[in-house]
Amino acid sequence: MSRIVYVNGVFVPEEEAKVSVFDRGFLFADGVYEVTSVVDGRLVDNAAHLARLKRSLAELKMASPLPMAEIEAVQRETVARNGLIEGALYLQVSRGAADRDFALPRQARPSLVMFTQSRALIDNPAAARGIAVVTLPDIRWRRRDIKTVQLLAASLAKQAALDAGADDAWLVEDGFVTEGTSNNAHIVVDGTIVTRHLSDDILHGITRKAVLRLAGEGGVRFAERAFTVTEAIGADEAFITSATAFVLPVVRIDGRPVGGGRPGPVTSRLRALYVEEARRA
Ligand code: PDD
Repeated sequence: MSRIVYVNGVFVPEEEAKVSVFDRGFLFADGVYEVTSVVDGRLVDNAAHLARLKRSLAELKMASPLPMAEIEAVQRETVARNGLIEGALYLQVSRGAADRDFALPRQARPSLVMFTQSRALIDNPAAARGIAVVTLPDIRWRRRDIKTVQLLAASLAKQAALDAGADDAWLVEDGFVTEGTSNNAHIVVDGTIVTRHLSDDILHGITRKAVLRLAGEGGVRFAERAFTVTEAIGADEAFITSATAFVLPVVRIDGRPVGGGRPGPVTSRLRALYVEEARRA
């Protein structure tokens, strides 16, 4: 069944959805995006995703294609028209179409596209098994706090991880783990979650924030600081967070087992707490 995609004011079958070849998202990766998970047909933590979208747009001096309340209405309509029960809603904003020029266009109208992906987020086999990661140099640009569609470095790192027989890559800069290719990276040491502090070096994950809040409410301590690959390999547990992964255990780093190579209790508890919260959305 063909999905229904939203493109600049209209809902059309995906085969008919088109943007201009002069769109700056295509020519310059001049665009931003958000991914909101959908559970039981409802958007999870969407206000936080829209707040981050607003910030990404402001950082790039890009106008919003619609007021946020209208964007949210389109999000809901896209989920409804596709009958999406569980999966993800992707929202992409680009600066719009303009004749090719490195200078920012004065006139371009930002474009807005939304589409869905149906997939099992809660019954994810990787939650019981855990995932393997390999570490790779972080060659992305220096403003990773902005959720841009400039994803080539992350995409190449993901493929290199798959080619190496792993599931994902953890990116490393100056000896410290920054984040996964499309998720935030965390470890657990002596019962304390260690997670990189917020800065321009990483995306300020919405799931990371929710999980740290749930940890705090559940009496699990956390420390926001950078950690090395050696520290991660020697940790009791490691895990990732994202809108589509929720909380997933990392049981192998560069071929070395973490915490005996099995998902640990803190990670499993955080996943359960997050799933419970997502279901209440
Ligand atoms: N990725 N870091 C990076 C580089 C990401 O791309 C993502 C999300 C995260 C986690 O952020 P959040 O918890 O807000 O999803 C961290 C999405 C899922 C994607 O690109 O598909």
